[in-house]
Amino acid sequence: MTGTIFDKGTDGISGRYIPENDCPVDEDHLPLQRESSLGLPRVAEQGVIRHYMGLASKNYHIDKGIYPLGSCTMKYNPVVNEEIARNNAFCGLHPAQDEEDIQGALELMYNLQEILCEICGMDSFSLQPAAGAHGELTGMMIARDYFLSRGEERKVVIVPDSAHGTNPASVAICGFTPVTIESDERGMINPSDLKEKISGETAVLMLTLPNTLGLFEKDIGEIIEITHDAGALVYMDGANMNALLGIVRPGKIGVDIMHLNLHKTFATPHGGGGPGSGPVGVLEHLSDFLPVPRVVKEEDRFAFLRESEKTIGKVHSYFGNFNVFIKAYAYLCSTGGEGLREVSENAIINANYLMKLVGKYYDIKYPGPCMHEFVASSVNLKKYGVNTLEVAKRLLDYGVHAPTVYFPLIVKEALMIEPVETEKKQTLDRFAEIMKDISEEAKKNPDLLHDAPVSTPVRRLDEVSAARNPDFRWQKGK
Ligand SMILES: Cc1ncc(COP(=O)(O)O)c(C=O)c1O
Repeated sequence: MTGTIFDKGTDGISGRYIPENDCPVDEDHLPLQRESSLGLPRVAEQGVIRHYMGLASKNYHIDKGIYPLGSCTMKYNPVVNEEIARNNAFCGLHPAQDEEDIQGALELMYNLQEILCEICGMDSFSLQPAAGAHGELTGMMIARDYFLSRGEERKVVIVPDSAHGTNPASVAICGFTPVTIESDERGMINPSDLKEKISGETAVLMLTLPNTLGLFEKDIGEIIEITHDAGALVYMDGANMNALLGIVRPGKIGVDIMHLNLHKTFATPHGGGGPGSGPVGVLEHLSDFLPVPRVVKEEDRFAFLRESEKTIGKVHSYFGNFNVFIKAYAYLCSTGGEGLREVSENAIINANYLMKLVGKYYDIKYPGPCMHEFVASSVNLKKYGVNTLEVAKRLLDYGVHAPTVYFPLIVKEALMIEPVETEKKQTLDRFAEIMKDISEEAKKNPDLLHDAPVSTPVRRLDEVSAARNPDFRWQKGK
């Protein structure tokens, strides 16, 4: 395993990182001077570059190959958007600057809000939430305050078992009680089950669309009608909008509140913890509940709307993750409306194509047609003593990233695969070929899979200890 840059240090070697001090020394402040050395690694510049290049080449990332991590939408993030976001005209801004000085930044935020409204058929958007799950929480807070303002005691949120795992957590954090509704044999919500579960206590039906099986709810019209007839709101987890751009406008089919994941659908990089952005959109009757400040247009200038009668308040310092907005906005401007529809069409075509190929060697419990992702299962390899984790680890030996495993929970030995629209047919064919080879290895030589990965810089990690006793910081002598 590669050591840290500190381990690479050699006494007597140093790069000239810090210029000589050419300021007069202020004797009064000398007591604050450090007495021990800073402890910087003793490595020359070339050594530093080689160290980090070495680490980067061991890492797996989208620029290296397919990253079919279902639910995460790991699509290609155009590099030009990074360059635009790095422009000093944006990076040099301070969030506390006067509105008059930052008209361009406000215009960008306003335009982004408007475009998201157009795509989703919603009436207003707030850009504040910093991630998808944060958007869900914001949406639940809006629903809570909406019912409070009407004097209605509604404490229950119905969450299908095919929803994303963060959904029930957001519901519970907001003080609602999540109630699960099971998917039927098609992998979808059955309207008659919903009718049985829904009551005057129900505040919200919170559904992921397309759901985590990669399926679009066939009965969505009826589902929304039942929910509204019970006086409840429909929340849509829109993190899977990569499948619906230009095809379905949720607000127009009756969704009251939704969030988007800019860091998935609109090509801003994520993984490794961020930065993300989970804007929340609502229909007119809920607009006043959105967090403030929001950007508004006043004739030919842009301003912050800082107060509104029913707002849930602030959910992020200042205005959200502005750097992410720039990248998403640049992406939206470069694709345009037609381009966005093509994004989703290609995401759907790629997923269905790959599902057919992978389905020859693995079980597909819900054969679709799917939207932008599908769930395969290696339950058919169990008889050879091989499980999904081993298939995933073996994929690493073939030099590709593994899909999401053991999620959603309603499919045994699940492999959740999302190829995204930017992968070419050749890449999909190669991925399917590898999946086929692994299924044959499982039959002929299962030990290969039990030992996998054998060719990666580190073998099997102790994931439980890594989660329970994380060790992130280098300490001298430890
Ligand atoms: C369907 C769905 N909903 C919500 C989330 C949560 O988003 P975040 O990870 O930004 O909190 C994800 C993330 O993968 C998701 O796939």
